Amino acid sequence: MKLRRVWVMLCVMLLAAAPALADNPGTSPAKPRALASRPGHAAVASAHRLATEAGLEVMREGGNAFDAAVAVAATLSVVEPQSSGIGGGGFFLLHRASDGKNVMLDARETAFTGASSKLYEGADGQPDRDKSINGPLAAAIPGEPAALVYLARHYGKLPLAKSLAPAIRVAREGFQPDDRFLSELRERATVIARYPGSAALLLPDGKPPQTGWTFRNPDLAATLERIAKDGDAGFYRGEFAKKLVDGVRAAGGKWTLEDLAGYQVKERAPIAFDYQPPGKPAYHVVSASPPASGGIVLAEMLNILSGFDLDKMDRAHRVHTIVEAMRRGYRDRTQYLGDPDFVQMPVAKLTSMAYADKLRASIQPDRATPSDSLPTAHPESMHTTHFSITDADGNMVSATQTVNTAFGSCLVVPGTGFVLNNEMDDFALVPGKPNAYGLIGFDANAPAKGRRPLSSMTPTFVFGPDKDLVIGTPGGSRIITMVLEGVLGFVDGKDAQAITAEPRFHHQYLPDVVSAEPGALDANTIAALRGMGYTVNAGEFRWGFMNAVIWDRKTNTLDAASDLRGDSGLGKVQ
Ligand code: DON
Repeated sequence: MKLRRVWVMLCVMLLAAAPALADNPGTSPAKPRALASRPGHAAVASAHRLATEAGLEVMREGGNAFDAAVAVAATLSVVEPQSSGIGGGGFFLLHRASDGKNVMLDARETAFTGASSKLYEGADGQPDRDKSINGPLAAAIPGEPAALVYLARHYGKLPLAKSLAPAIRVAREGFQPDDRFLSELRERATVIARYPGSAALLLPDGKPPQTGWTFRNPDLAATLERIAKDGDAGFYRGEFAKKLVDGVRAAGGKWTLEDLAGYQVKERAPIAFDYQPPGKPAYHVVSASPPASGGIVLAEMLNILSGFDLDKMDRAHRVHTIVEAMRRGYRDRTQYLGDPDFVQMPVAKLTSMAYADKLRASIQPDRATPSDSLPTAHPESMHTTHFSITDADGNMVSATQTVNTAFGSCLVVPGTGFVLNNEMDDFALVPGKPNAYGLIGFDANAPAKGRRPLSSMTPTFVFGPDKDLVIGTPGGSRIITMVLEGVLGFVDGKDAQAITAEPRFHHQYLPDVVSAEPGALDANTIAALRGMGYTVNAGEFRWGFMNAVIWDRKTNTLDAASDLRGDSGLGKVQ
C-alpha cells in the first residue's frame, strides 16, 4: 500500500503571555500544585491543513476549543468530503476547563422510518451489499449539522456565523484537493456517476478530476450559511428539509420529513475509568460511550492489561497479551452493544475490574485462545476523520466524525453540496453477517426507525499525573485498537508524533486473525506468535489517520501531531 501525502499540521499558537499556575479545577484526578492549570496557548491536530488553520483562526478571534471544533469540523466537511461532512455524523468528546465537566455529544446518524434488515436483502435472501453501501437506502439521517449548532450554542463563545466563516470561505473560493481525495474519488467514481447531483458536484466533465483541479462548492457554502443563520431549522425543517427528503425519495430512498424534524443531538456521560499498570501511576481515561463502542471496549482491554507487567515481556508475549485483551473486548462488542436509547447493556459489568479479572484469568500465557472457543452470551455486530484540540484555558475537544466509507453513499441531493453517509451499513443488517469492516452483530445492533448504529469511533482523553492526552483516529473496526495502542504509548512516555506514527497490530475477535502493519511485528515475533497458535497477517497495508495533542502540565507545553500515514483506504467497499 503506497504511503500517501498527508497534510500534517502541528500548530501551537501563543494566545497568552504567562501561563498561570493553580490547582486543576476539573473533575479529573487531583493534580499537584506545581502543574499548570491552563496552557496559555492552543493546539489543533486535524487531517487537513485548512481545517487546522480554521480552528486556530477562530481561537485567535476569541473563540474557545468548542468554537474551534465547529470550525474544524465544518472545514473538514468541505475539504475532506470523502471522510466526513454535513451529510454524516460523529462523536464530540468535550472537556470544559472551568468546571472539569467531561461530556460526549452524540451526533450519530439515526435510521429512517421503515428501516429493517429486509430492505438490504437481495432476491436470494442474502445480504445485498450494494444497498447498504451505495445510494439512498445506505444513508441514515445526518447528525453533523445538529452537532455544529449544539456545540456553538451550549459550549462556544462565538456566534455560529463566525465559527462557520472559514468553512464557508473555503467552500466558496475553492481549494485544490490532495492525492488522497482524488484517488478515493476515482475509486468511487462509478457509484458517484449513478446520481446526477453527485456527478455534477464531483465529476467535472463527467470524469474524475486530475491534480490541480480547483474544487468550488457554492451549494455547500449556501447550506452552511443557512445553518449559520437559522440553526437546526435551516437543515432539519422547512424548505431545505423538503428538498433533502424529495431528493432521497426520488433516488429510491425512504426518508420522511418527520425523520429529519425528529433528529436530536444527545449529551451522554462518557465512559470513565482509571488505568494503572504495575509500577506506574494511575491514568484517568475518558472515552466515547454507546452508541459508540470504543470506550467500553477500551475499558475492558485496559482493565485486563492492568494486571500484566507489559514492560517485562518480550515483544511476542506483549503482543500476545494485548491481542488476547483485544479479542475479548471485541467479542463483547459483537454481542452486547448498540444504541443505549433502545438496548439494555450491562455497561457496569463490562467495565468492572471483577469482569476483567475473569477475562484475564482465561488468557493462557503461551497460547492463543481461538475465538470460537470463547463462551458466547448470545445465540449465534477510510473514511472518517478525527481531530484533537486543546485551547489556552485547557478546554479540550476530541472529535471523530464520518460519512462511513469513502464518500459515504455517494448520493448528493442536487443543489445541497454534500454526500449523504452510508452509516446504515454499521448496523448488523443481517445477524452474524460481516459489514464493510468485517464486524458482525446481533439484536443489540439491529436496524429500526430512530436507532443509532453502533460505532467504533473512540474519541478519548487521558488525564495522567502530569500530562493530558487528546486522541482519536479513523479506521473502521481498527479504531479502538489504535486508540488502545496510542494510550499504551502515552503511558510509556512517547510524544505525540511517536504515538501517531507507531506501527499497529489488530485483532477483532472475528475474523480470528492478528493483522499487522509493515514494521509492527518482526519475523521472530511473527514466528513466535504462529507457534502460539495465531494466524498472523502481517505487512499488508497501513491504516489510520491519528491526530493527537499532549499537554505537558509540568513544562506547560503542547505537543500536537498528525499521523504520517494519511488514510489507508480501509473503508473501501469489498
Ligand atoms: O462509526 C464507525 O465505526 C464507522 N462508520 C467508522 C468508519 C471509518 O472509520 C472509516 N475509516 N477508515
